[in-house]
Amino acid sequence: MSQDQNKMWGGRFAAGPDAIMEAINASIGFDRRMAAQDIEGSRAHAQMLAAVGIISDTDADAIREGLLTVLSEIEGGTFQFSIALEDIHMNVEARLKDLIGEPAGRLHTARSRNDQVATDFKLWVRDQMDAAIEGIDALMRAFVDQADAGADWVMPGFTHLQTAQPVTWGHHMLAYVEMLARDKSRFEDARRRMNTSPLGAAALAGTGFAIDREMTAQALRFDRPAANSLDAVSDRDFALEFLSCASICAMHLSRFAEELVIWSSAQFKFVTLSDRFSTGSSIMPQKKNPDAAELIRAKIGRIFGANVALMTVMKGLPLTYSKDMQEDKEQVFDAADNLMLALAAMTGMVTDMTANKDALRAAAASGFSTATDLADWLVRTLGMPFREAHHVTGSLVALAESRDVDLPELTLVEMQSVHADINESVFDVLTVENSVRSRTSFGGTAPENVRAEVKRWKGLL
Ligand code: ARG
Repeated sequence: MSQDQNKMWGGRFAAGPDAIMEAINASIGFDRRMAAQDIEGSRAHAQMLAAVGIISDTDADAIREGLLTVLSEIEGGTFQFSIALEDIHMNVEARLKDLIGEPAGRLHTARSRNDQVATDFKLWVRDQMDAAIEGIDALMRAFVDQADAGADWVMPGFTHLQTAQPVTWGHHMLAYVEMLARDKSRFEDARRRMNTSPLGAAALAGTGFAIDREMTAQALRFDRPAANSLDAVSDRDFALEFLSCASICAMHLSRFAEELVIWSSAQFKFVTLSDRFSTGSSIMPQKKNPDAAELIRAKIGRIFGANVALMTVMKGLPLTYSKDMQEDKEQVFDAADNLMLALAAMTGMVTDMTANKDALRAAAASGFSTATDLADWLVRTLGMPFREAHHVTGSLVALAESRDVDLPELTLVEMQSVHADINESVFDVLTVENSVRSRTSFGGTAPENVRAEVKRWKGLL
């Protein structure tokens, strides 16, 4: 049958069924990204085969030399990838055969593509976990530096995006450091759990050859060989954990990205973003758009999408390997690329951004942000039950609102019209500076707390 016409499906398919099969089956288009890991795994395997006497040292040497040549061809861009050879594993082995002949055929002794792909993919994901941890560290340092610079700058704290109470800029920055520290520990935790070697599980049942799985595990810097061969070839938890750690981290990034979008608007003017991370408009000359923040905000879509996609692929798969699992890689590759990009872009934005101290303070002082301080004063000074103080303060806010002033601008006489016992010392608690300074409870926003936390984080990072 001709390759340019498909009898089964008619003219709509330009290619014959073999080409369609090749197109759906081949993974070389994407799994070539694991070439270095594939070659590393093969080198460890060959060395072990020689060490236990399954292949000769001469063959092992030829295999090692050949694999190094293949690696340099791939890295140098001269390697001819073949879709007919399906995947990176077959491509590498076929080229090895071209280069060294017969010994190449001995490499696959006591191994299958099933344990091979699980090993390669684990090595790849493990590298990405390390890269994510590094990227998170860099972003944490950028946030800590911002906190250090503005430990006592006052800004509005929000709930429901309504002014709630004054907080410090440093405290707000350190909130993200906490989130990122959890993200980092999630990756570290997942990395510890995943660090077992599938190599030597063979197709699914193990092998009759007297292999040394400890040796290959060690060579590939795994903590130990995976204990059950069936699980070893069918486990993709490590990829799912990577994606879920990445999703939570990307969710955190999206929250700060959203704050940057709001804060950089003409209505807020809390921060000025650097030109390096903004763009202009082709029609509106005044515009400076926070594109990088918007794109970071959007990245969670594809990263969490990958998480859902792979979870759905794995759901209901019987043990052990099924070809469905080949669909794991593109999701993880894309999520990893975009997480690293988002972390790097966010680190750049946080490093470059300038907080507009005056605008932050002005916003903090509006919206009756010290109403809670006033209620607390009534409790502390007049011995009022908090519920009553809440009510009295509500009346004072209503009075200020009707006069179109903020709480510190009410006169003592006006205040006493609401409650006769209020005295001059109330004004001490109505400024935003005094408000934040008073919040010294553990974890509170007081500048002295922020400074102590900055010091702690600088020691840790
Ligand atoms: N390309 C395959 C994958 O990515 C490699 C494993 C093939 N194994 C098999 N039994 N066909 O999953």
